Amino acid sequence: MAINDAFLSELKMRTDIMDLVSSYVSLDSRRQGRTHKGLCPFHNEKTPSFMVYEDTQSFYCFGCGAGGDAITFTMKIENLDYIEAVKLLAERAGMQLPQDGYDDSLHQKKNRILAANREAARFFYSCLLDEKNSHALKYFLNRGLTPQTIKHFGLGYAPDSWDSLIKHMRSKGFSVNELYEADLVKKSTKNGERFYDNFRNRMMTPIIDIRGNVIGFGGRVLDDSKPKYVNTADTLVYKKSHEVFAMNYAKNSKEDFFIVAEGYMDVIALHQAGFTNAVACLGTALTQEQARLMKRYTDEVVLSYDSDEAGQKATKRAMQIFSDSGIKVRVLQLRGGKDPDEIIKKHGKERFKSLLDGAENDIEFNLIKIGEKYDISVSDGKMSFLKEAAAFLAELSSPIERETYCLKLASMTEVPADAIRQEMKRHLGAVRKKAKKELFNHARNISNGTEDKINPDKKLYPKQAKAEEIILTSLFRNPDFYRKLKDDLTPDLFFTSFNKRVLAVLLDLLENGRDLEMYSFREKFSPDEIGRITYLSDIFNEISDTLEECRECIEMLKKAKDKKSVNEVSAMSDEDFANMFKNIKK
Ligand code: CTP
Ligand code: MN
Repeated sequence: MAINDAFLSELKMRTDIMDLVSSYVSLDSRRQGRTHKGLCPFHNEKTPSFMVYEDTQSFYCFGCGAGGDAITFTMKIENLDYIEAVKLLAERAGMQLPQDGYDDSLHQKKNRILAANREAARFFYSCLLDEKNSHALKYFLNRGLTPQTIKHFGLGYAPDSWDSLIKHMRSKGFSVNELYEADLVKKSTKNGERFYDNFRNRMMTPIIDIRGNVIGFGGRVLDDSKPKYVNTADTLVYKKSHEVFAMNYAKNSKEDFFIVAEGYMDVIALHQAGFTNAVACLGTALTQEQARLMKRYTDEVVLSYDSDEAGQKATKRAMQIFSDSGIKVRVLQLRGGKDPDEIIKKHGKERFKSLLDGAENDIEFNLIKIGEKYDISVSDGKMSFLKEAAAFLAELSSPIERETYCLKLASMTEVPADAIRQEMKRHLGAVRKKAKKELFNHARNISNGTEDKINPDKKLYPKQAKAEEIILTSLFRNPDFYRKLKDDLTPDLFFTSFNKRVLAVLLDLLENGRDLEMYSFREKFSPDEIGRITYLSDIFNEISDTLEECRECIEMLKKAKDKKSVNEVSAMSDEDFANMFKNIKK
């Protein structure tokens, strides 16, 4: 069951896509007025190809093909399902979601997983305080954690047992299947199906999202045994590549930057020492999604990874991702300890503070790293160094920074600043050209179907797909064509499966005289697919908008169908052919 139309149209009326999108993306208003342009929040780019259209209340990115209406935007940017996105928008618009009449089974399932996680966190916390497990509490205290910190982060202890969590959760009304969905238990299929606790004899760190939900756990051993961590796998409520540990606290810190550390233990130690703006990724290398989440709250991070080789490698990767996301990076060089936790424990928080204040900005860090690659005392080396350094500086977005470092570079290498500026300009020209070409390729790929993930059949039937798209777009823009074309139009006429699905829904809406709103497509299409439908309904412009053109396309498809069935017959095995013949005779 869908949420009713009346509610959705009112929601639509009360939601302005410009307002909504501008709270996440800064948009340039172009002179034409009602189309706005900005950097796409769904992929990394340096030149804006993300458009918001006030007239159609939709958005579309020419770089990555994301598109849709306010609901799709909310689903994608907040990582929500349909009902959750509608709820959020309704709240924003001051509306009350109708109590029933829609299918929110997925939402309820998620809620059960969240409830199970919350109860499990309570259980682990109480086990930590249980005298039986005093060795666990001792471990925490030995690591310098205070009772307040333990409580603040909701740390706990998972007992050394195969079923203590299962038993507890059952008594609280959770089914083993729900626990399985939450990844709190694992399943063994040896000698019949059997479930057992996923976390055993581990110190438990709940992972809490920015809304305060417990979405997963990290479980560390209390000694040096392996594996060091067992983490919640991805579940319906937890996607580790999208979440940032301690963000729920760090986002409220009064500092205007985040400290990004490698481990849970570092973050916990940092918060205890007063650095409440510390966060960490969750046992993965930093992802674009995590960077984008941070970008919502800040424009600057200080990387504070471990000083070992792995940590330094991760630093370089993270720097790239942050700068691609438009976040300024400084790098803290850990001296006197392997990680922030150790430094604070050994030397106190003042030492960490002074390292923090001395953190080099990423431009200096990068220039030093580029410099290390070349021998600047010989002219060949100096040339190569300058070329690479100029290319690096050219891509900085701030003109002040570009000029400052250009002058520094000039005095360092005794090369005229103008020569460096020339080199920067040349490089920038090449970058812009490349970006333009990529944009062009994207449009071309959509139009001829190479590498089309949304409609993979397009590669097989490029001409047919084009005809299909002309028909779809014409119907979107001219619903009145429907009456004149309906006798010739069935989804079976189409070759490619995605377009076939779109047509089926479109015909159904038109037959029932309903609005062709994106809302109506949502139940049957993923947010990525909605992007394509937006393209077809709002962006695609290779049509003449006439009935004649539609009729030609229909004819073309019919002919191709006939030909295809002839070909299929000739590709049949003798046996299949004989069977078909029998059936026809019957
Ligand atoms: N990690 C993981 N699985 C492992 C090892 C590490 O998921 N087997 C992740 C965890 O998120 C961990 C982070 O990588 O927090 C950093 O690893 P490490 O520095 O080894 O762990 P710490 O949490 O810092 O633990 P400690 O300081 O107690 O060694
Ligand atoms: Mn560590």
